[in-house]
Amino acid sequence: MALLGSVDRKGEAMKVDGKKAVVTGGASGIGRAIAEALGQRGCRVFILDIDARGAERAAAAIGNRSEARACNVRDTDQLESLARECWAELGGVDLVFANAGAGPGAPLLKASADEFDYIYEVNLRGAWATCAAFGRLMVEECREGHLCITGSEHSLGMQHIGSGFYSASKAAILGLADVLRHELPDHIGVSLLCPGVTRTHFYDGGKKSGLPPPSPEAAAFAREILGRGMPAGEVAEIALKGVEQGAWIIPTHAASRKAAEIRAEEIARAFDRNAPPSEGAERYEVRKLIDEVRDEMRPIRNKTKAAKKARKR
Ligand SMILES: NC(=O)c1ccc[n+]([C@@H]2O[C@H](COP(=O)([O-])OP(=O)(O)OC[C@H]3O[C@@H](n4cnc5c(N)ncnc54)[C@H](O)[C@@H]3O)[C@@H](O)[C@H]2O)c1
Repeated sequence: MALLGSVDRKGEAMKVDGKKAVVTGGASGIGRAIAEALGQRGCRVFILDIDARGAERAAAAIGNRSEARACNVRDTDQLESLARECWAELGGVDLVFANAGAGPGAPLLKASADEFDYIYEVNLRGAWATCAAFGRLMVEECREGHLCITGSEHSLGMQHIGSGFYSASKAAILGLADVLRHELPDHIGVSLLCPGVTRTHFYDGGKKSGLPPPSPEAAAFAREILGRGMPAGEVAEIALKGVEQGAWIIPTHAASRKAAEIRAEEIARAFDRNAPPSEGAERYEVRKLIDEVRDEMRPIRNKTKAAKKARKR
């Protein structure tokens, strides 16, 4: 039966020191700080970023034979071949940080469908494609590994008026990462890093998107807010500690907690009002239904398999 909840990774948590790591979006901000923190722990790091020169600068600063590769996480085929290349060059990969991100977007009634596609392709599809490409290799090679996806406080209940696509993509990544951690075997852990406001150049990251740039006022406003955020190095240290604990969700800012609590309270109140506990309610519990149907269908599946085998003979 699928697990419901569970706080941490199923297998043994992984020590970071001396590991082989890949960081997407590692040319700047949180990704670069994670790559540097990994470098300080003796890791060899491959930085994959759409900003090839920034990635090269970051790799050179880390040392430990770290390298950079130009990579657009929106390009799934490119990610597949880069994953194989990194795997071969490094002799296997232990840690993957799917961190590249884009945002923040526009108010929902003004935003465009292209903007939706762009933000979702980087934040959601890109994170999935990164984890799938490296995760498949970890499974095939039976190698212990850990995948850490950068979500946001938006994954946990925070929302900002004016960046609906961004908030939605980060809420969606919570669901994706949750399924991933239950689908993967015990030797591969999954964490969702959920930073609050962090001092980075995030607002400039969309320059390569081809989308209309934000107004100068909006850009200045966002820059001012991010400039007051937590230093990226602090976020990176919390991230690595969380990975070493095998933590599933890694919040970084105590200030994000209120929004998460409000969201949890809203949901509980909604249940009390619209779907309160009632006699026999558990008969609709979906995991129970899945188990029941699976058990009932097992004889039919076995018969079909046996018939197929017999036909082949
Ligand atoms: N800064 C914050 O306040 C904050 C808060 C919560 C979560 N985050 C998340 O942290 C992650 C990193 O953001 P940051 O704040 O360090 O911003 P940043 O702009 O400094 O770094 C983002 C990096 O991702 C790269 N990138 C963008 N699109 C890419 C693509 N298509 N393919 C490959 N690389 C690409 C950029 O070149 C850049 O190096 C993002 O996922 C973001 O959503 C940031």
